[in-house]
Amino acid sequence: MHQNLNASLHGIRGSFLDFIADPFYQVEQDCVRYLPDGLLILEDGYIKALGAYQELAAQYDKIPITAYPNRLILPGFVDTHIHYPQTEMIAAYGEQLLEWLNQYTFPTEAKFKDPSYARRIADCFLDELLKNGTTTALVFAAVFPESVDAFFEAADRRNLRMIAGKVMMDRNAPDYITDTAESSYEETKELIRKWHHKGRLLYAVTPRFAITSTEKQLKLAGQLLQEFPDVYLHTHLSENTKEVAFVAELFPQNQGYLDVYDQAGLVGERSVFAHGVQLTDAEFRRLSEAKAAIACCPTSNLFLGSGLFKFHQAKSPEHPVKVGLGTDIGAGTSFSLLQTANEAYKVAQLQGQSLSAFKSLYLATLGGAEALCLEDKIGNFEVGKEADLIVLDLQATPLMQLRNPHLPAQSLGQLAEAAFALTMMGDDRAIQATYIMGRLAYDRDGHRPV
Ligand code: GUN
Ligand code: ZN
Repeated sequence: MHQNLNASLHGIRGSFLDFIADPFYQVEQDCVRYLPDGLLILEDGYIKALGAYQELAAQYDKIPITAYPNRLILPGFVDTHIHYPQTEMIAAYGEQLLEWLNQYTFPTEAKFKDPSYARRIADCFLDELLKNGTTTALVFAAVFPESVDAFFEAADRRNLRMIAGKVMMDRNAPDYITDTAESSYEETKELIRKWHHKGRLLYAVTPRFAITSTEKQLKLAGQLLQEFPDVYLHTHLSENTKEVAFVAELFPQNQGYLDVYDQAGLVGERSVFAHGVQLTDAEFRRLSEAKAAIACCPTSNLFLGSGLFKFHQAKSPEHPVKVGLGTDIGAGTSFSLLQTANEAYKVAQLQGQSLSAFKSLYLATLGGAEALCLEDKIGNFEVGKEADLIVLDLQATPLMQLRNPHLPAQSLGQLAEAAFALTMMGDDRAIQATYIMGRLAYDRDGHRPV
């Protein structure tokens, strides 16, 4: 018995960084936990202990330990908004949101009626996530239920904590890619029953956006949230000025874009709205009051020319809104949350603000987990949480090595500087390894480390 228990234990040694509070609201040093030489103990995929190597090692001297000298270990990244069917149409030239959807997105998503095609892309997509250190994501599938099955089957095989849903869209799009209010309700219901809480999977009711849903469809989406109170709501909101104007035309009786969702019962604690670039002050306040979250997608907002997200307003102390980072592939230009943090920094700079590395790494980990109401399961190294973690190489390229010559950082000041360079220069090359529930799921160099 004792032997068996010990057999399930495993240790990882390296430098550890995670967050225990939100650095937008408290002194950064109080939010950061940093162990230059730490030991993380894993048991059956869960975190059993974290401490300084010198303090814990004697207690765990009989268990296997994987050492990562000069590497920084973080909780897995959380991508709060991404479209798996758009993987292959990343970097489509020349259009802004509404034209981009018609010209590139709808024809691409039409291919996901074919389950074998959907399965192939779901695998490519998940490979890409793990390679970029993303261990949890909130994912748009396509309108076809088969596309949801393909995604969840692939995620379940890899034991990933993923949230996804079938797109609901019953107007303003070609027939080959629309459903009806009733069919979307029935199909979503069946998919919730099939997938929600299967293994680590969770379901999000996913109307595409107000433009492609009738009021009836949005109301039925709201009904699903009533019937299944712990599923998520995932949609787009106030991304682009032409989009906002079109929503006002389509819903003249409403008080604005967010109100369209509110009247349908779609604004609550488990609601995640992508973008929010064009939100009004009143809408920010309403999101704060409802404890809803925004997925901020800077690479996408710059790529489609949508605009600059107002971090300072979303994270205001008076009306705080939960915010996570989203890549928004395929309007986003990188699967990497490091590259997403890079663009977020520039977006803040253009508004006279600076986003520290600790703030953006918080958004990419615990902040994302909080946006998805998963902070009791993932997001940092608290004992009892699921052991999804990533090993970062801050010297992944010769230039990064030149920029970050002295590792590990010996103080929080040194760490802040090294971590900032990582968020500016890092991408998939900086992800040495990704662990899912304590097991190595991706290794950059293609071997199990010693
Ligand atoms: N709004 C509605 N659909 C989409 C989409 O697929 N991508 C983005 N960026 N915005 C949207
Ligand atoms: Zn999107």
